[in-house]
Amino acid sequence: MLLSTHESKSAHVAFGLPARCSLFASKCRKRLRAGFWPSHQTACSGGAERFFSDLKIHAITPLAEVGPVVDIAAIARQLTQVGYIVLDKPLLATLSSGLLARCQDDGCVRFLPAQIGRGQAKQQIDSIRGDVISWLDDANVTDRAYLLWMEQLRLGLNAALYLGLFDYECHYAIYGDGAGYAKHSDVLNGKRNRILSTVYYLNENWQVADGGELRLFEADGVSAIATVNPVFGSMIIFLSEYFPHEVLAACKKRRSIAGWFRVRDSR
Ligand code: OGA
Ligand code: MN
Repeated sequence: MLLSTHESKSAHVAFGLPARCSLFASKCRKRLRAGFWPSHQTACSGGAERFFSDLKIHAITPLAEVGPVVDIAAIARQLTQVGYIVLDKPLLATLSSGLLARCQDDGCVRFLPAQIGRGQAKQQIDSIRGDVISWLDDANVTDRAYLLWMEQLRLGLNAALYLGLFDYECHYAIYGDGAGYAKHSDVLNGKRNRILSTVYYLNENWQVADGGELRLFEADGVSAIATVNPVFGSMIIFLSEYFPHEVLAACKKRRSIAGWFRVRDSR
């Protein structure tokens, strides 16, 4: 297994030892203890690009070892054969903490009630969809790091599967206590613009009893084929067109980043 400098730094941070910042601007060499990483990460200018200089997405690591190094070939294979894949902790722990810090509706990021439908037909119906959302902002260093990771995935999957994925859009989502999202398809008005859906979960210490599962159904929308607990650091990727799905109500706040790879025909 490849052990990058980031992995050894994460281990350092996980054990609560001070570690030097070299994630972002090369000029910043601050020594920080574990709890200070998320805020430092957001504040430290220099850009997410450096954060990713060590993050090699390549095709040799077996899926069982998916860590900061992601096996695109295995993801591509499973998407072709099964149609969806759940990854356990594909992002660095420091990035995940930064994303969680951004996914707070306490004024740090502006969240608005999600709507359903598109254009003129957009409407807010809490009984169908009960989350508040905030689109990721390319100007924010943490958001940009996530978007860059997705960009690597986009390029890798295009190379492996010739999908012609053109762009990626994603938003933070917070479902309040008791809120869910009724069974739906991510392909709007039957258009094929959304090809792959991704959801990255940000719920620490999530227990099965907390609910909030994502349930995927067969294309007919009747038989359930997978139930995913929204535990911190896991990510599901699925073919948007083939899986109607629903978010079951949770008994506490449920946080995630939902996103879609699209092809060019997205009018
Ligand atoms: C969505 C969605 C699933 C989830 O936002 O369209 O289906 O698990 N989210 O949050
Ligand atoms: Mn959906």
